[in-house]
Amino acid sequence: MAYKIAVIGGDGTGPEVVKEGLKVLEAAGSKFNIKFDFHHYDFGGDRFLKTGKIIDAEEIAELRQFDAIFLGAIGHPDVKPGILEKGLLLHIRFELDQYINLRPVKLYPGVETPIKDKGPDEIDFVVVRENSGGIYTGHGGASKVGTPYEYASQEMIYDRFTVDRCLKYTFEYKRKRDKSDAKYKDREVTLVHKTNVLNHVGDLWFRAFNEMGEKDYSDIKRGYAHVDATTMWFVKNPEWFDVVVTSNLFGDIITDLGAMIQGGMGIAAGGNINPEGVSMFEPIGGSAPKYTGQNVINPLAAIEAGRMMLEELGEAEAGKAIQNAVSLTCTKLKSLSAGKMGYSTTEVGDLVAEAV
Ligand code: IPM
Ligand code: MN
Repeated sequence: MAYKIAVIGGDGTGPEVVKEGLKVLEAAGSKFNIKFDFHHYDFGGDRFLKTGKIIDAEEIAELRQFDAIFLGAIGHPDVKPGILEKGLLLHIRFELDQYINLRPVKLYPGVETPIKDKGPDEIDFVVVRENSGGIYTGHGGASKVGTPYEYASQEMIYDRFTVDRCLKYTFEYKRKRDKSDAKYKDREVTLVHKTNVLNHVGDLWFRAFNEMGEKDYSDIKRGYAHVDATTMWFVKNPEWFDVVVTSNLFGDIITDLGAMIQGGMGIAAGGNINPEGVSMFEPIGGSAPKYTGQNVINPLAAIEAGRMMLEELGEAEAGKAIQNAVSLTCTKLKSLSAGKMGYSTTEVGDLVAEAV
């Protein structure tokens, strides 16, 4: 197969880790006879500072023509926070309707987790974060700003359609996961929300979850947890989780915690998925500007993002080969943190590519 991939290195260490990701994809490509046609885009802080341009409608239209998008990182120290995040990252997610943010939390053997007494058997779940709605829609406003009477609101908005399509993806994902390994079969899909306070939007999610589960997926066990309690259980009993589904903001928050328990931002990857359209894969850590150009940042998260991209494209075998190679490489690194790996960024890329 041949795939057209848009590559956005982005800011800070983004381009460095993306380069290693591409190296590993090429290695998997030559082994499994997959061809890649990579098109590089210079979207990001540097271009914005030079030209004032973030991304225009034509460029968005171009992105729609690809099989997938591979992204490094967005966020520049000289650009006011929020401009690039909203103008580029969230803009692409929304415009391409990437309504799922899939974030695996998987501890590979040999990787250190801050959680005492938990290992790869206990830390192996995935968060399905709704990625198109909720508080991220920016609904709300402000008035009398700067006066003592100023007013601001930002609403958590969900409609049934947006919730249902996310739930459908989640249940279908769980079915695939159960087929991939029998050990997942008895574990549940957990809805995470805050129904004890958010009686409108939480109630919508809760009813939609149980109605769909009962009607179309009665073979799958369901559970519910409040989001605050979830942060406690991610640490105390991560083995209780298998597939977690939640709304946009809650998913944003709990997946940073998830990243930490799986070994840190050096390994955490995610996919912004439009199951019917063009998806975008990224390491979920930021642009880490202080490490830029030093060849010390961990590229495994970007490599994992590439692996998820292959899986989404239907290249399961190649994805599995990358995953095994990453898992093996983890046992060789001294640490997953930047500057402490015992290897440089490019060397880690080489290790994974060779293992593939
Ligand atoms: C993430 C990030 C983004 C988000 C920011 C950079 C807009 O934190 O991908 O988790 O909130 O979704
Ligand atoms: Mn986040």
